[in-house]
Amino acid sequence: MAQAEAIPGPRRFGKTARPDAWWVPTLAVFLALSAFVVYATWAAFQGDHYEWGPYLSPFYSPLIDPHHRWWPFSPALLILIWPLGFRVTCYYYRKAYYRAFFLDPPACAVGESGKRRYKGETAFPFVLQNLHRYFLYVGFIFLIFLWRDAFRAFFFAGRMGVGVGTLILLFNVTLLTVYALSCHSLRHLLGGRLDCFSCAALGGPRYTGWRWLSVLNERHMLYAWISLITVGLTDFYVRLVASGAVRDLRLL
Ligand code: FES
Repeated sequence: MAQAEAIPGPRRFGKTARPDAWWVPTLAVFLALSAFVVYATWAAFQGDHYEWGPYLSPFYSPLIDPHHRWWPFSPALLILIWPLGFRVTCYYYRKAYYRAFFLDPPACAVGESGKRRYKGETAFPFVLQNLHRYFLYVGFIFLIFLWRDAFRAFFFAGRMGVGVGTLILLFNVTLLTVYALSCHSLRHLLGGRLDCFSCAALGGPRYTGWRWLSVLNERHMLYAWISLITVGLTDFYVRLVASGAVRDLRLL
């Protein structure tokens, strides 16, 4: 008579049968996110060198009360909660930082701490992750401002031109837009909970949109990383030019 296979019990923390270096991506994510958080926190609190000519750092856009009439701190602190909330609640980043910072679990098929009872995202504070959709809506408003900034970056003292900063701002907002369009929530909004597009109102356009978003969605992780790096580098470039450390090269 065939013997039933025993169901493996919970593994000890860090225990795995995986022969590969599973800890490398976890460590890389930890280092990369830590570096970004340290830089972004410094840049947001610094409150200076965020603007030069037609260039505005994306960390400070939209620029609110730059002359400190009623807000005594860095203008970035008035707005950063929204892009931050969008990234923190992003489905991809959740996976990344649950693994890299909470080691819960450290990687796929690697033992985690069995002391806590798993509640998923149904209890405070992680239930707040469900706000992601609303951060997405606000994120689109921010994108309008960032596209406006990229447009303004083509005008130097009233004359049209192109500098290195113009291209950087344009590249940055393009990537941020692609990242937002590849969002799982947005894809769900368009095509989720539908068994039959042709039976639904506006089914044809919804199906077309859902297919396009699905193409972007397949590479959501890639766009999440590239856009994170470019938004940091864009702030850094504006900062270098505004502080006089480098001169913006005019191309046209
Ligand atoms: Fe990542 Fe929405 S799931 S931005």
